[in-house]
Amino acid sequence: MLKGVFPVEKFNTIPTPFYYYDVDLLQETLDFAKTEADKYSFHLHYAVKANANPRILSIISGYGMGADCVSGGEIQAALDAGFPAQKIVFAGVGKADWEINLGLDHDIFCFNIESAAELAIINELATAKGKIASIALRINPEVDAHTHIKITTGMKENKFGINLSMVGQVLEELKTLKNVRLIGIHSHIGSQITDMSAFRNLAIRFNEIQDELEEMGVVVEHINFGGGLGVDYYHPNHIPTPAFDNYFAVFHKLLRIRPGQQVHFEPGRSITAQCGSLISKVLYIKEGEVKKFAILDAGFTELLRPAMYDAYHRMENISNDDPVEIYDVVGPICESSDVFGKDVELNKAHRGDLIALRSAGAYGEVMASQYNCRSLPKAYFSDTL
Ligand code: LLP
Repeated sequence: MLKGVFPVEKFNTIPTPFYYYDVDLLQETLDFAKTEADKYSFHLHYAVKANANPRILSIISGYGMGADCVSGGEIQAALDAGFPAQKIVFAGVGKADWEINLGLDHDIFCFNIESAAELAIINELATAKGKIASIALRINPEVDAHTHIKITTGMKENKFGINLSMVGQVLEELKTLKNVRLIGIHSHIGSQITDMSAFRNLAIRFNEIQDELEEMGVVVEHINFGGGLGVDYYHPNHIPTPAFDNYFAVFHKLLRIRPGQQVHFEPGRSITAQCGSLISKVLYIKEGEVKKFAILDAGFTELLRPAMYDAYHRMENISNDDPVEIYDVVGPICESSDVFGKDVELNKAHRGDLIALRSAGAYGEVMASQYNCRSLPKAYFSDTL
């Protein structure tokens, strides 16, 4: 069984479970994303929600990227990590007043507006500060991302964005508001998208939207396609970097850019997923009547994705190479959903063996919880271990 390369000797001295980040791979991924985006002068804003670990954020900000934030806490984390406020975009259907005020105080690049109601409040808060807020309309483009239902965002029934049919109405309202300035249009159709046709459809839909806006006399300076590029959870050792080349090429090829327009993306998962692994220890092997369970000391408190989205994470026994056996790999949490995988092939597992749950660098550590009064996992980095 081909496995990732891990410093197992060092791991044996660290209390489990913990997150381990391969800094070289993160940098390789960032280099690739940046090179491919630079080919077309596309702008990248890292989606902080995927992984807000301060060290990870500061490595990413070192690449000159902007940040995509969905809360005041994320704006603050991005600023602390060195992302310039002028490259911060702020999205989210429920921005609280203090979060909007934080964005206004720092003169962030753009508020991605999700409703007419929110637009009015941002105008009001900006007026109180004597400022003009730059805004983009987050449009719900009705493009199916063909991904898991819980991470689909661009359909009519989703809570996100302004419905296509209501854009005209919001533009009319905008005309009456003095302290907001329309600079762009934005959308995000979903996450873990591996089928490029969804992005093709999105680019084509944006051409249609731009044509309609133009008819209403509106041309914006910025177009933002959100995030969504998927990674290969099945082959992290063979395909460690996502298809940034194909992804950006789709937009370059299909999008009709107006003169002077700038194109933005908000990649999250594609930047951080593959560089992170959750390292956990086997506590017990339990022989059931029909199943053999490998019970780990990590559960959905450390990695929620399998329980929440039925997500697959490759698992490797990094402590030995005994012949492969089949296990249901589970955690210690008192919930039936605390299962990392059923009928998983692992090199024969023994108490004390270390199991690496791969591709956990995005939506892993950041979604950890303290349920069952457990402690949050610590993080270690390949270059400082
Ligand atoms: N921009 C916006 C407005 C978003 O809502 C998201 C993700 C992104 C960018 C980044 O998308 P990415 O490049 O990471 O696909 N917890 C789930 C994923 C939730 C994604 C939410 N929005 C998971 O573990 O699969």
